[in-house]
Amino acid sequence: MRRYKAAITGIHGWVPEDILTNADFEKMVDTTDEWILSRTGIRERHILKGEGKGTSVIGTEAVKGLLLKTQTKPEDVDMLICATVTPDMMFPATANIISHNCGIKNAFSYDLNAACSGFLYALVTASKFIESDTHKKIIVVGADKMSSIVDYTDRQTCVLFGDGGGAVLLEPTTEEIGLIDSIMHTDGSGMIHLHMKAGGSAKPPSHATIDAKEHFVYQEGQPVFKFAVTNMADVAVAIMEKNQLTSKDIAWLVPHQANMRIIEATARRMGIQKEQVMINIERYGNTTCGTLPLCLWEWEPQLRKGDNIVLAAFGGGFTWGSIWLKWAYDPA
Ligand code: UT7
Repeated sequence: MRRYKAAITGIHGWVPEDILTNADFEKMVDTTDEWILSRTGIRERHILKGEGKGTSVIGTEAVKGLLLKTQTKPEDVDMLICATVTPDMMFPATANIISHNCGIKNAFSYDLNAACSGFLYALVTASKFIESDTHKKIIVVGADKMSSIVDYTDRQTCVLFGDGGGAVLLEPTTEEIGLIDSIMHTDGSGMIHLHMKAGGSAKPPSHATIDAKEHFVYQEGQPVFKFAVTNMADVAVAIMEKNQLTSKDIAWLVPHQANMRIIEATARRMGIQKEQVMINIERYGNTTCGTLPLCLWEWEPQLRKGDNIVLAAFGGGFTWGSIWLKWAYDPA
């Protein structure tokens, strides 16, 4: 029997054009450009404006661009997974809306919620369908409209997040490239530090929940920082040790973009130079499920076939993980 690996054979990203800068936040809350930049590394973030526009707008733009770029016919796509914490609505899945918008009619599609680790979880899930030879073309979307769940009066949280995302095409290969290994973790005890209090079945929306501002991201920054900085670095080092990879073997680290200090700590622990780390937090902030595909999309012209890439993320849940993949193609 042939053994298949799942290779990323194309990537496309999209961010809305409107921008919120640190100077804009200085007018909205008690903060400064200096505080935001030095504590987080963020200068600006993109915001999706317009009534009725949800995360599916981001996903649709990313997938349409991906289909065009990879010359993939929508009817040939077998499956589409959308990782997001800001679905257009509770149901149907945003993945279904994206599929519909893109003319993808022969796929089964669903959403996956693992907060900031969502893209990693979805990539690992999708790769299993490819490896088992049941599906040939799978699109994985990571996208979030964080501006829809951010309280713009909460200075500790509102400056962190932005909107955007990307999509990758996964296809089978018999070469030693693609997703090689992954380590994924969940610890539900972390929920108390990072969650949205209302809007789900435990606490459905009501006048009281709206008055109490319970439909926004609730984050205790410091404890989340402590868990993130330890666990993201640990899991990135763990995938190296498990596969006997040294820092010299690794071409790129693709870290979740939540805070520059977490990114730097992870790179340091891995022994990776800053030039080998994909960092775009300065321009996008934390786009939750969107950060990793946005990085890969921006760095795509610099990636070479066979490059060893480690992706790592940490987020709400808590969820965290790392993936080792070998990039599958040279720039066009
Ligand atoms: O992606 C999901 C996972 N999320 C993360 O990984 C985020 C992890 N957490 C963080 O990135 C950081 O904890 C924050 C960026 C959220 C906060 O940075 P910090 O260095 O942990 O700051 P802090 O919470 O210790 O606050 C330091 C001070 C406080 O003032 P006092 O008590 O020392 O007087 C805050 O009130 O900074 C104050 N502060 C601000 N000052 C100006 C908090 N937010 C702001 C602000 N502007 N926007």
